[in-house]
Parts: sequence; structure tokens; C-alpha cells
Amino acid sequence: MLTQNLPDFWESLYSKGKDYWNAGKATPALLDFFENPSCPKSGSVLVPGAAYGYDAEAWAKRGHDVLAVDFCPTSVDALDKLSRTYKNIRSLDLDLFNLSPKDPKKGGETFDIIYDYGTFNAIHPGRRDEYFEMCYRMMKDEGLLIILMSPLSNDSTMKGPPHATSEGELMARLDGIFDIVERIPVTNSLPGKGKEEFWLLKKPQE
Ligand SMILES: C[S@@+](CC[C@H](N)C(=O)[O-])C[C@H]1O[C@@H](n2cnc3c(N)ncnc32)[C@H](O)[C@@H]1O
Repeated sequence: MLTQNLPDFWESLYSKGKDYWNAGKATPALLDFFENPSCPKSGSVLVPGAAYGYDAEAWAKRGHDVLAVDFCPTSVDALDKLSRTYKNIRSLDLDLFNLSPKDPKKGGETFDIIYDYGTFNAIHPGRRDEYFEMCYRMMKDEGLLIILMSPLSNDSTMKGPPHATSEGELMARLDGIFDIVERIPVTNSLPGKGKEEFWLLKKPQE
């Protein structure tokens, strides 16, 4: 059975035109967030599950060095193309759960910023702790994890992906791993997205 743990699952959605997350442009809420004082002005960015790379491209245009990771061929092709256009974008064909700061073939460094829109909510919910563990090991100690939670709603009846999350679930999973430094509501979500909110997370400081 194909599950979202496998690249073939995602590739089949791309090939059937069921890539409903593909807005064909950078996420408007991200472009707004760039103007927010809480958005770091500089720093390297990791984008796990970067899809066609529109948001990775937006970070690169803002001057950041970007590593865009995905594991299905349609995405990897798109990210490879972007990496040939922008010298500050690298693409990596890898299962994001295998990212490692110690292995040059699996990322090979830690990042100032990890940005996610749509990937946390796309992976199997049973792997969310593992996802946060990956973010923890790939982030610098002073780094910032920026996740646009979508949808953030307790009452969703939707069958995923995307899988809904909730404030209560996130509080429980983040406890002791990341501090929630800020939550920023989104006012210009794309149609049909449900409640969306940026969560800005940092490693707990001593
Ligand atoms: C719902 S899409 C969202 C993508 C993107 N953030 C956006 O908003 O356009 C999820 C993407 O994550 C990728 N993905 C899912 N699980 C992954 C994994 N374990 N490793 C790498 N990429 C993964 C899929 O191939 C797909 O391109």
C-alpha cells in the first residue's frame, strides 16, 4: 500500500494532477511574513518537502542560502532546475527524516532557519515527533523553526493529507523540545485552507 511515507505516493498525486497544494506561486502569507519584524533578515534556510520550490525561491530572492529537500522525482526535477537558476539554492533528493548535519550527502550542516508550509501537515501524523526531532538536529542552537500550520483546527473532518493539527496536540509534542516564541495568525490564506497560523519555535535556552 502506498502511504505518504513513500515518494511514489507523492509522485502519483503529482502525475494525476492532484497536487492541490501547488499554488503556482510563492505563498502570499510567507511574502507578508517577510515584512514582519519577527522574520530574520538573514541566515541559511532549510525547506523540507519543498515541492516545486516556490517558497524556497522566495527565500533565495530575499538573499538567503537555501537547501530545498524533497524525495519524489517531479519535485526533485523542479528543485534541480531552481538550483541551476539561483546560485544560493541547493536541491537535495532525500527522505527528510534522514537529514543529518554530520553527513554531507544528507544536508551536512545546521541551519539558522527551518521553514515549512504544508510538510508537517502532509507527513503521517504518527511521525510528527520524529519530524520535530529532525528539525531539532538540523537547526542551529540560536535558530528559528517557522512552521505555517495548515490547518490548525480541532474540528476538521478532513481525511489527509493534509492532516489537521491542533493547539493541544502541538503543545504536547513541543513540550521540552521547542519553545513557542510567537504565533502569528494568517489573514490572507489561499482558498480552502482552513485556519492557518505561523508558529515560531526556538530551542529552549539554558
Ligand atoms: C503537501 S506537499 C507541500 C509542499 C510545499 N511545502 C508547498 O506548500 O508547496 C508535501 C511535499 O513534501 C514531500 N514529502 C513528503 N514526505 C517527505 C519525506 N519524507 N521526505 C521528503 N519529502 C517529503 C512531498 O513529495 C511533497 O512534495
